[in-house]
Order: sequence, then C-alpha cells, then structure tokens
Amino acid sequence: MEIIRTPVEMTAWANRTLAGGQTIGLVPTMGFFHEGHLRLMRKAREKAKRTVVSLFVNPIQFGANEDLGRYPRDFVRDCQLAEGEGVDVLFAPEVQAMYPAEASTRVVVSRLTDGLCGASRPGHFAGVTTVVAKLFHIIKPHCAVFGRKDFQQLAVIERMVADLNWDIEIIGHPIVREADGLAMSSRNVYLSASERQAALCLFRAIGHARRRVRTGPVEAKVLLQEVEELLQQEAVAIEYVSLVDQTTLQPQAVFRKGAVLAMAIRVGATRLIDNDNLFEEN
Ligand code: PAJ
Repeated sequence: MEIIRTPVEMTAWANRTLAGGQTIGLVPTMGFFHEGHLRLMRKAREKAKRTVVSLFVNPIQFGANEDLGRYPRDFVRDCQLAEGEGVDVLFAPEVQAMYPAEASTRVVVSRLTDGLCGASRPGHFAGVTTVVAKLFHIIKPHCAVFGRKDFQQLAVIERMVADLNWDIEIIGHPIVREADGLAMSSRNVYLSASERQAALCLFRAIGHARRRVRTGPVEAKVLLQEVEELLQQEAVAIEYVSLVDQTTLQPQAVFRKGAVLAMAIRVGATRLIDNDNLFEEN
C-alpha cells in the first residue's frame, strides 16, 4: 500500500491510474478504523479496480466546542488495517496542504442541512461537503462509499453530486454494529463502561420501533413519544428523535417504507447518532 501525503502527488497517481484505464473507488474517513470503515473498504474494492482511502481529521467540520483536539488517532494501526484490506493508496494529507491560509471557498448544500445534525452542529455539513468535494477533485474517483450510519451526510453528499453534475457513483453501506447492537463509531472509545451500557438504548429503541411498525401503520407522534420514553430510561440526553424521509429528510407523519427513524443523544460528554429504516433488512 502506498501512503501519499500531498494533494499534488495524489492527483498524479490518479491521472496515471486513469490513463491506464483503471477505475478508482474512494472511501473518505477520519481514521481510527473500526470494522465499519473496513467494510466500506471491502465494498470499494468490489466496485473499482483500485481503492483509495483518505484519512484526514477535517478541522472545518468540527464546531468550536467539539472534539477536534481529542479526536482519536492511531496512524500506524490504521495503515496496517487498510493494508490488510488490500487498499492501494492511503491518502493522509496535512491540514496546511488541504487548507492553505489563503483558502476561501466553501461548498454548501442548503435545505438538507438545516435539520437533524445540522441544527445542532452549525457549519458541520459545509465542512463535510467542502472536504469531500476537494477529495473528489484530488482523487477523481468513479465511485465513493459512505456509511448509512451518517445517513444525513450520505443524503447531503448525494445531493451535492447530483447538483454539481458530478459523474461519481455514491454507494451507501449499511450500518455496521457491535455484537450487542451499538453502531460502531470511532467515538465509542470515549464511553465509560456504564455509558457504553446506557448507549445501547439506541438499539433497543430501533428494535421497539421495528416491532411496532410490523403490525400496520403507526403515527409518528405516537411512536416517537414511545421512543423518547425508552431512551429516557437511561442516563442520556436526547438531542433529537425524528422520523424523516430518507432522501428529502423532511419530517414524516406516519411510519412507512422510505422513512427513517433518526436519533442523536448525548451520553456523558459523548454525542452518539443512530438510525434505521425500520422496514428493510440491513
Ligand atoms: P468517519 O466518521 O471516519 O466515517 C468514515 C465513513 O465511515 C463514513 O462514510 C461513515 O458513515 C462510515 N461509518 C462510520 N461508522 C460506521 C458504521 N458503524 N457502519 C457503517 N459505516 C460507518 O464520516 C466521516 O468520517 C467524515 O465526515 C468524512 C466523510 C470522512 C468527511 O470528513
């Protein structure tokens, strides 16, 4: 596996690869890999001849009071894991190379970024779309794989690619969970043993909602209330519990196919998100 540190060298690799007639699959990440990241890499390898993983803790998608300074990092382990997945290139640029002092451009997707995580993290999605747009230009992938764990992020990126007429296939990957149901996340390392237990309420809430919708249509306000009560049984603070359309992200009145139950909570100092489409196999 090649490790590339600068955008210029990355683009030179991409140009050589494309000139050789090979396709490129990209997995953008912020590192500290877990099984979820590795599955995305496997998916990219199925889809394209050469696989690039970007590893960049993107400062502009973190709010002033968020965890940029303590975001978990382990570059050596990440290199070993990516190499083990048969990744061709790990692109790990420095912050200065991605955002030189004079950089003045932001890529902003409106509307879809107003609600859910966008409401509590102003500027977050503009940071995500700006870095992903830069990665797309630098790496020139045919396809890019994103996890449904961050389903608003996926919807926003799909919108950006369509709006900017980008010829890149965006592939959504199902949420990868721990054996007990907790969605894998680099941030799970922040959780103490008791917080880790409390965090399981997210998966219990999904199980409850899945069972409830099996028997017929359920009004959102009824089931969302039940979900909130279930979450409140643990020492967690609810940021949002919503039922939204998976593409438009607009609130839905009834649980039905195409609607997603989306939740964000705080467990101690850690913010966790989870979601489920309730009707489909994962
Ligand atoms: P990061 O949190 O490192 O996640 C990288 C990719 O892995 C994202 O597409 C995310 O949705 C996916 N992922 C994380 N946990 C997952 C899980 N349990 N199951 C399935 N997929 C999972 O998301 C980001 O980084 C950044 O915002 C990024 C897109 C790289 C832009 O900086």
